[in-house]
Amino acid sequence: GLGVINIPVVVHVLYSNANENISDAQIASQIAVLNADFNATNSDVSQVPSEFADVVADSDINFTLAQTIRKSTTRTSWGTRDEMKFSSNGGSDVVSPATHLNIWVCNIGGGILGYAQFPGGSASTDGVVVGPQYFGSTGYVAAPFNEGRTATHEVGHYLNLRHIWGDGSCRQDDFVADTPSSNGPNYGCPSYPTVNCRSNDMTMNYMDYVNDACMYMFSEGQKVRMRALFASGGPRAAFLN
Ligand code: ARG
Ligand code: ZN
Ligand code: CA
Repeated sequence: GLGVINIPVVVHVLYSNANENISDAQIASQIAVLNADFNATNSDVSQVPSEFADVVADSDINFTLAQTIRKSTTRTSWGTRDEMKFSSNGGSDVVSPATHLNIWVCNIGGGILGYAQFPGGSASTDGVVVGPQYFGSTGYVAAPFNEGRTATHEVGHYLNLRHIWGDGSCRQDDFVADTPSSNGPNYGCPSYPTVNCRSNDMTMNYMDYVNDACMYMFSEGQKVRMRALFASGGPRAAFLN
């Protein structure tokens, strides 16, 4: 196997006020959440129902903060068209995307928590974007998105995971066999069981749309899909050099 995969992280903080200029402690809290969630050491993993307990995955992916870049700006919202990723637009340019996960922390606007680029896209926009009010588990965050799971979800996309409902009907696949089929996102904090497509939804999966406190697992199938990116010839193989 590939062993433990280490992902160095570059955090770009674009701020138009003091709240958005999040603290080093807030950034550290997000790195800690990523490490817990991608190694199944999160304390709430114990809440996984017995039906799914045997497919809870320790993905063996670790994250280390490599660099923090801070930039003051007069822009108060950035949208979802990657403008924050270019200094020519007043943003901050990507750093070493072949070997580093870039995270832009800036207000997106429109109630959007975060968004990600799937592997295989343009290097200049590779990475994830998260709003400062949803990033980490301390500082400028508030319930129900105050446990750092927006970045967990977005890094899941960056590592090739789809939403567990496949963004479509019961027959639309997420290309993961052990996540039961569903036909749409779940929100809030669903009770168990939540039945769709004649099976119980894995609502507690990071790739659903529930509150931070109500998502606490990746599956073994998702682990296989994420780690495949790092194999020789894969789109993120350079991380292992
Ligand atoms: N891309 C999703 C959104 O912006 C992120 C959902 C994250 N969910 C969460 N509980 N943090 O709507
Ligand atoms: Zn998503
Ligand atoms: Ca599935």
